[in-house]
Amino acid sequence: MKAIILAGGSGTRLYPVTQIINKHLLPIYNKPMIYYPLSLAMLLKIREFIFVINPEDEPFYKKIFNHGEKLGMKINWVIQKKPRGLAEGLILAEPFIKDDCILYLLGDNIFFGHDLPKIMESAKNEIEKNGGAYIFGYYVPDPERFGVVEFDEEGKVISLEEKPKKPRSNWAVVGMYFYDKKAIEFAKNIKPSRRGELEITSVNKEYLKRGKLKVKLLGRGFAWFDAGTHDSFLEAGEFVATIEKKTGLMIGCIEEIAYNNGWINKEQLLELAKPLSKTHYGRYLMKLVEKK
Ligand code: TTP
Repeated sequence: MKAIILAGGSGTRLYPVTQIINKHLLPIYNKPMIYYPLSLAMLLKIREFIFVINPEDEPFYKKIFNHGEKLGMKINWVIQKKPRGLAEGLILAEPFIKDDCILYLLGDNIFFGHDLPKIMESAKNEIEKNGGAYIFGYYVPDPERFGVVEFDEEGKVISLEEKPKKPRSNWAVVGMYFYDKKAIEFAKNIKPSRRGELEITSVNKEYLKRGKLKVKLLGRGFAWFDAGTHDSFLEAGEFVATIEKKTGLMIGCIEEIAYNNGWINKEQLLELAKPLSKTHYGRYLMKLVEKK
């Protein structure tokens, strides 16, 4: 499985700051937003990534990650000339996917929950074994802002709608999707929506039509933020700060995960920690070496 991370877009809901800087580079508490979705895929031991980015942001992203070598992984960069919708990332990433399955992540979505890696692992296994798509629902008070999923009494999906005026449920589809490689063909054949975008909901509907869409609901015990508005951006930062201070453990610490996965050794970890030595982040990384 390879991971595609969508890190382009226009970020209009975070203006004015995103008029000059891409939102995924802004810090959610103590690290760039993009670390959070990236770390989720790394927890699944996915080692090859395709980042979809805007042309003007390429130098900044490469300055942070280059091609992923410092973390012992591989990052391919794909330029999206204009934000033509979430599903376009599938088409642009096609040359790198080959026969693999895909974990598709939105760069501004932040997740937290004790069993999340386990749940993701079983979705990954399911798609790699049986194909299809696996998506996740989260209960929200304002479903009209999201893709919305409706179920029957047995939990079978009846409908999917993108930003409906009259939502049929309160379950939003979150920005984490597992696909077999058919997703790319589906994305190529969908038409732009009324707002002119290639919607990921249209791709998911193709799977639904064929009886190949699975949905898991993330209930109590999970936190999910679409950190793309001023309020949710702040809330996500406050949440991360609270959890990290209470537990003493970091969320979305990509260096720690690379180290635990055995992709980098002690010396490499210390090298990454060195420039951060004035921060709690840097000291946290240094302590990891003492622990093992
Ligand atoms: P959105 O939050 O739906 O859109 P946006 O980032 O352009 O922000 P706004 O609505 O405030 O203008 O995008 C979800 C994620 O997908 C986000 O991480 C940005 C990314 N994205 C792309 O990479 N390419 C795209 O064409 C779009 C629409 C979004």
